[in-house]
Amino acid sequence: MNIIEKINTRRSTRSFTDKEVSSNTVHELITLGTKAATGSYGQPWGFVIIRDKNEIKSLSDEIKKYLLENMTDYPYFKQYESWLKDENFSVFYGAPCVIVIYGDTISHWYTYDCSLAAGNIMLAASEFGLGTCWIGFAEHICNTPEFKAKHNVPDSYKLVSTMIVGYPNTTQQKPPKRKPAAIFFEK
Ligand SMILES: Cc1cc2nc3c(=O)[nH]c(=O)nc-3n(C[C@H](O)[C@H](O)[C@H](O)COP(=O)(O)O)c2cc1C
Repeated sequence: MNIIEKINTRRSTRSFTDKEVSSNTVHELITLGTKAATGSYGQPWGFVIIRDKNEIKSLSDEIKKYLLENMTDYPYFKQYESWLKDENFSVFYGAPCVIVIYGDTISHWYTYDCSLAAGNIMLAASEFGLGTCWIGFAEHICNTPEFKAKHNVPDSYKLVSTMIVGYPNTTQQKPPKRKPAAIFFEK
């Protein structure tokens, strides 16, 4: 499939088989992520890879508990309250691998750079038959000093993206029609 088809057909994946994603594949995805453009060629990223099923489960439980206890600070998650209350719901949807992308705040451009890396990873993953989904639910917990210390993330790095990766266990749905792009000006 060429890149235009990949862009046109990529969807977020929220259901996975038990098949592991090999370490080589994850490292290849990350390497492809690092081919993204960066402000002043800063390449201000660092990655945490979590494949331990127990850790993924307890992280999801911690995220759900934290969000439910602090829902007033996260009005944009209110619509998902019933999901978060469901003990069978995992914010990581049973994915076998979580990649967390951190940006070094020493670079002014770190958020843009790391988001571009995340986009590369999503598109490259689909080439390998893998599904991905950015997990905004994980934003707070994966950025806490405790989480960062446990995973050797230096203080100057901040979370940009938490992404799940795995082999989809359902056929990908066709993308829904996008809103037409707002073109503010064209001459
Ligand atoms: C910044 C960001 C945060 C997201 N957070 C979540 C999330 O926490 N849980 C989830 O299931 N999907 C999450 N998504 C996926 C979006 O829901 C999804 O990209 C959107 O509905 C469009 O669907 P598509 O990716 O299949 O085209 C997130 C996507 C982005 C870019």
